[in-house]
Amino acid sequence: MEERVHTFNPGPAALPLPVLERIRDEMLNFRGTGMSILEVSHRSRTFEEVLDDAAARLKRLLKLDNRFHVVFLQGGASLQFAMVPMNLALEGKPVGYVDTGYWASKALKEAQILGKDVQVVASSKAQNYTHIPKNFTVDDNLAYLHLTSNNTIEGTQWHHFPGVGNVPLVSDMSSDILSRVFDPSPFGLIYAGAQKNLGPAGVTVVIIREDMLERTPKNLPTMLRYSTFVESNSLYNTPPCFAIYVVDLVLEWLEETVGGLETMEAINRKKAKILYDYLDSQNFYTCPVAPEDRSMMNVVFRLPSPELEDKFVKEAEKARLVGLKGHRSVGGCRASLYNAVTVEAVQALVDFMQEFARKNA
Ligand SMILES: Cc1ncc(COP(=O)(O)O)c(C=O)c1O
Repeated sequence: MEERVHTFNPGPAALPLPVLERIRDEMLNFRGTGMSILEVSHRSRTFEEVLDDAAARLKRLLKLDNRFHVVFLQGGASLQFAMVPMNLALEGKPVGYVDTGYWASKALKEAQILGKDVQVVASSKAQNYTHIPKNFTVDDNLAYLHLTSNNTIEGTQWHHFPGVGNVPLVSDMSSDILSRVFDPSPFGLIYAGAQKNLGPAGVTVVIIREDMLERTPKNLPTMLRYSTFVESNSLYNTPPCFAIYVVDLVLEWLEETVGGLETMEAINRKKAKILYDYLDSQNFYTCPVAPEDRSMMNVVFRLPSPELEDKFVKEAEKARLVGLKGHRSVGGCRASLYNAVTVEAVQALVDFMQEFARKNA
């Protein structure tokens, strides 16, 4: 087998090598069933054990108490942009959004399409989304306040969630769930597409607090109601079984091999520090993001010209460092340092960057 590359893809993204090896080893005969997990019935005890294990591990890792339900949905984080206002908006109350970038603005647009009274509580759009808004006030009449905890494209992250009194926070945590420790208690709902820190594409994790379930209007179709998935233990219809199985393995790796979220956070801090320290130590590459709001997961940087950026991405690929092109909406370069990306991979990237700068400055 040819040697594996270092992947800095934004999602689908790097998976832990032990997880990939386990999938390979279990592929033809899943835990004594004589068949692959791809062939196991979603109504079997075998699959339900996988599903329940994944939910239980997620609850333990995030220290969620019994008020929180974990469900597995399809439709990506993008469907959550619509399901959140469909289920959680309240008659006569505005829904609040903080506009911190491309995905945050897509989320609030869905609430607008649905005709909800959308209040953009704060926005960093005028500054090209290079920082996280601060010192804004939150109206206590809001049905909820929606945040994007990590802005995958712009490379910013909420390092402190705003105090919101009794207003439930709702967060798109697609690109930083399980990367660090946080207090879940102010959150009414958290959602995340799996394809960054949790596993493969095709499943979306939703964490919903019990009291939020009462809000769903009666006229919402069954597949768009959170309660459908809570009541059926994510088995109302055929779930994305394989993706859920891989999520379970990733969570097992995080709990048992890494040793939990505190350790994961320390490793993520170390990785981000290696790259940001290098970026700040020279002036060939520049990072446009306000230092206090820089993401630990997605590090964005520019080179002196778009031509050099193209050359950088191509040469990096030849050096077996892949996925460094910035999102098409903003250009530039981006290294995604999700949980499965190793310290060694980040060090290899910095070594390559130094060499490239030396040759091209
Ligand atoms: C923060 C964030 N939200 C939402 C999405 C969209 O997710 P999906 O493709 O699962 O709909 C992405 C994808 O990169 C993202 O980074």
